[in-house]
Amino acid sequence: MDTETNRLFIKKVSEINTALSPKAAVDTYGCQQNESDSERIKGALIEMGYALTDSEAEADVVVVNTCAVREHAEQRALGNIGALTHTKRANKNQIIIICGCMTQQDHIAEKIKKSYPYVTAVLGTDAPIRLAETLYRCLTEKKRVFDVRPPMDDIPEGLPVFRESGVKAWIPIMYGCENFCSYCVVPYVRGKERSRPPEKILEEARGLIESGCRDITLLGQNVNSYRGAGDTDFPELFSMVCSLEGDFLVRFMTSHPKDATKRLIDAMASSPRAARHLHLPVQSGSDRVLSLMNRKYTSASYEELIRYAREKMPDITVTSDIIVGFPGETEEDFSQTLNLCDSVGFDAIFAFIYSKREGTPAASMPDDVSREEKGARFDRLMALQNAVSAGKHASLVGTRARVLIDGPGGNDEYPLSGRTGGGRLVHISGDAAVGSFREVEITSATSWTLSGRVL
Ligand code: 5AD
Ligand code: SF4
Repeated sequence: MDTETNRLFIKKVSEINTALSPKAAVDTYGCQQNESDSERIKGALIEMGYALTDSEAEADVVVVNTCAVREHAEQRALGNIGALTHTKRANKNQIIIICGCMTQQDHIAEKIKKSYPYVTAVLGTDAPIRLAETLYRCLTEKKRVFDVRPPMDDIPEGLPVFRESGVKAWIPIMYGCENFCSYCVVPYVRGKERSRPPEKILEEARGLIESGCRDITLLGQNVNSYRGAGDTDFPELFSMVCSLEGDFLVRFMTSHPKDATKRLIDAMASSPRAARHLHLPVQSGSDRVLSLMNRKYTSASYEELIRYAREKMPDITVTSDIIVGFPGETEEDFSQTLNLCDSVGFDAIFAFIYSKREGTPAASMPDDVSREEKGARFDRLMALQNAVSAGKHASLVGTRARVLIDGPGGNDEYPLSGRTGGGRLVHISGDAAVGSFREVEITSATSWTLSGRVL
């Protein structure tokens, strides 16, 4: 499927929809990559004449964009798909489309086909470009469509995009992953690494900045694997985006410690437009576990990189992902994770209990650690991190920060909400325009958020 043919199907569906006022709901699970795909799914739906709604009950089309990274995400999606029997019963013409990482796995696509007969269509991770054709077939052939294919080699350019925020935006720069960390399903469902040409990324960034976007996240499963035409690598691309005209910040997600280099840190340090935030998933503090995970770095090399980043950018926020209870993780391995978190002093972590993923190497590794023990370790890690985060936030009270005002706040006391360059959430009192950078004095803090007033 190419962009032109897709456009043709968008037009055909929009012609069917003329004179109707159809509605569509999109339900998204998982990471920023999926959120970004859903922005393209929504963009296509709008061009096909659908009005977006949050209500699945009143939607003529429901798209569920699923995640496969942990069992919990799959179960939540399946629960929601199960609940759609009621909306379908009330509206038998409702079209229900399931797509994303979960359905890219054959056993799940098969399960949905057999056990969820009211689901109209199943697509994989290339749903943003296949959606229009699929909808056209659902509307004209009046039969179920199952069209899960291996992820495409090409990256479709020029798809319509619907962005929720005018102030912050994701720009996908590469798709796929070939790192094959032993616990991870992503390389199987997102396919080979492929990168967008730098000029397409710069063009998109320029357009966003001109339309008022102030915070850009360059997205990829492993941005460090980026290889643009003419061998542009990620530090180069990052510097190119930072060099565009305007008042904005650039950040990236996600970076792999094995190939996040000092050159990348130098590129960040040399631009005031580089957000002072490094999200660098360490996964474990035990070299034995890191090797079983196929991560290809050690806790020492990881700590050295963080030390270098802080030397170059003393105010940098450092966050991480950690998996607790990897198969066979011993108390000694786990205590090394605690030690690493203690010694690095992350600003925040995203911790997950290991989830067995069918078809990955870790799924067949012996595991003698009980669920209870894994849960207890998770609680111990979070207790340590909460104390570290609370200490860091407390030390910020009384200081000033440059904050991007990104939306209204939750209450009268703090009518605004914003983020620091490091990505910390700030509840803000005072008056300022959404989309502006303002100096804010931090007046109080919890482990998770800061409060402050506009100066
Ligand atoms: N179990 C638990 N957590 C996982 N992650 C990836 N795969 C798994 C799994 N099988 C976590 C990693 C990754 C984050 C996005 O999700 O920490 O960095
Ligand atoms: Fe999964 Fe590892 Fe690829 Fe990240 S780098 S998507 S954890 S395989």
